[in-house]
Amino acid sequence: MRTFKGRWEMIDGKRKKTTSSGMTHEKLPRWAASNTPSTGAAEKPAAKNPGPAVERRAFFWMVLGWGSFTAAMAWAGGLVGRFMFPNVLFEPPQSFKAGTPEEYTVNDVSERWKDRFGVWLVRDTEKMYALSTVCTHLGCTPNWLPNERKFKCPCHGSGFFTTGINFEGPAPRPLERFKIALADDGQILIDKSKKFQQEKGEWNDPDSFLVV
Ligand code: FES
Repeated sequence: MRTFKGRWEMIDGKRKKTTSSGMTHEKLPRWAASNTPSTGAAEKPAAKNPGPAVERRAFFWMVLGWGSFTAAMAWAGGLVGRFMFPNVLFEPPQSFKAGTPEEYTVNDVSERWKDRFGVWLVRDTEKMYALSTVCTHLGCTPNWLPNERKFKCPCHGSGFFTTGINFEGPAPRPLERFKIALADDGQILIDKSKKFQQEKGEWNDPDSFLVV
């Protein structure tokens, strides 16, 4: 605590106690009041009403904040949904009925099931068989050229006879055949889940052709 060292002096004919700087004790309280640093508390104006502009700004930021939060939650929910329900590949059924043998011309290739099931149905004078439309080189889809009576792959030029045997281009082996049978209702039943490869001697399997 700060103290003042006083001394006695004669002022206006009276003996008065002064500070070390010569100030009388009567003046000291006034001097102290004028030299005391303000804390600012008393000078602060009373808090004003923020007004409608400030309230509108606060409302805007609140709406923006909640909007961003909602959008972020929706995005996160979408990610979780995709994780919970991944893409499912729906493939056409592996077996299907293809009508009766009488619907197919002898010594001809039918493209009736090519787009939907990836199958050529071939009928010769004795039997029918279901050929895969997948090239055995790199998996392209060959075209049936009726005038040349061959399947021709547009990718690298492989050629296949109507039997499925490869005879030109880079294809290393014949086209594959699918299981074929006659259903109880007289319709041709093709089962793509069972394949037969000529190079493995599987074309002799009675399930690989249908006698007609
Ligand atoms: S994919 Fe058919 S020839 Fe290459």
